[in-house]
Amino acid sequence: MTADRINILQNIGDKKAVKITYDSNAGSYASHTMMQQRNLEVLAEKIFAIKGVFTDVLDIGAGSGLSLTHLETYADKTHFTSLVRTDISGKSLLAAPNVLYCPDIKLQCDAENLPFVDKHFSLVYANSVLHWLTAESGMPGFEKGISEALRVTKSGGLFAASIAAVGTSRSFFRAYESVIALLDRYSLAAPSLEKNPIGAMELHNVVDTLLSFGAKVISAELIYEPVLYSSAKEYIDDVKAYGYHFLLNGVEADLQSVLWEKISQSFTEEVGSGQYFHDQYMIYVLASPT
Ligand SMILES: C[S@@+](CC[C@H](N)C(=O)[O-])C[C@H]1O[C@@H](n2cnc3c(N)ncnc32)[C@H](O)[C@@H]1O
Repeated sequence: MTADRINILQNIGDKKAVKITYDSNAGSYASHTMMQQRNLEVLAEKIFAIKGVFTDVLDIGAGSGLSLTHLETYADKTHFTSLVRTDISGKSLLAAPNVLYCPDIKLQCDAENLPFVDKHFSLVYANSVLHWLTAESGMPGFEKGISEALRVTKSGGLFAASIAAVGTSRSFFRAYESVIALLDRYSLAAPSLEKNPIGAMELHNVVDTLLSFGAKVISAELIYEPVLYSSAKEYIDDVKAYGYHFLLNGVEADLQSVLWEKISQSFTEEVGSGQYFHDQYMIYVLASPT
């Protein structure tokens, strides 16, 4: 397959809110990835401490910009014979720059239903993705995502993920919840996702899930890693790039921008307009199917 080919699969189901969010921000997402960039660097450090050469590699929820192959620090250490990048947002994949040194296939598909045979990839990774999965397959989306990732990883291969942990973005969500509560007061439609909208996980739940699918857990860590933003506005713009439609899903379309402005104001009042440390807690796991 050529690098630019996108296969549109029909099994995406009703993942509209997440898909709309990432489709609509495909062009701008890559310039709002300070958090994800940091996650990928930490994840890469852990992966390449174990091994530098991987035959077939799968990036789940690759999005439009970041990929292990674009980390210059690691470019000379890594060797992938092929990279498959998947995402539910076809527009994000189209916006992603191509990888030059190995065959690079982009495939639009759902992380909960990967269209690959069992045990195909030697490295499967998902950077800041698994907490986004929604439950539409009979089991929690996150569990289905992990079971699929492990299914397509070779025995002895590596599965690596960074996942947002409980505690992340508490300041932002205080502002978000206070504004969403106003909708209730006026009996206006509120987002259905207001509790834990980003699906933040607990470390023990991630480990239990990996163990329940028979994986060997190589490492599992919860890390507090604040990310410094030059201003509250810069941070809010980053949140908007990944969360606008998702966080306002269910709200009348013409109310969305007003609401976002109110969330932004309330957040800035709480934290001030100057430098801001994003309260990020991340889970990093490395596991191997048995
Ligand atoms: C925070 S972004 C991370 C993107 C990329 N991994 C990075 O590090 O920049 C989350 C990505 O997960 C994708 N995603 C969410 N739900 C998905 C699903 N069910 N199947 C595949 N991708 C999904 C989104 O479209 C988005 O590109």
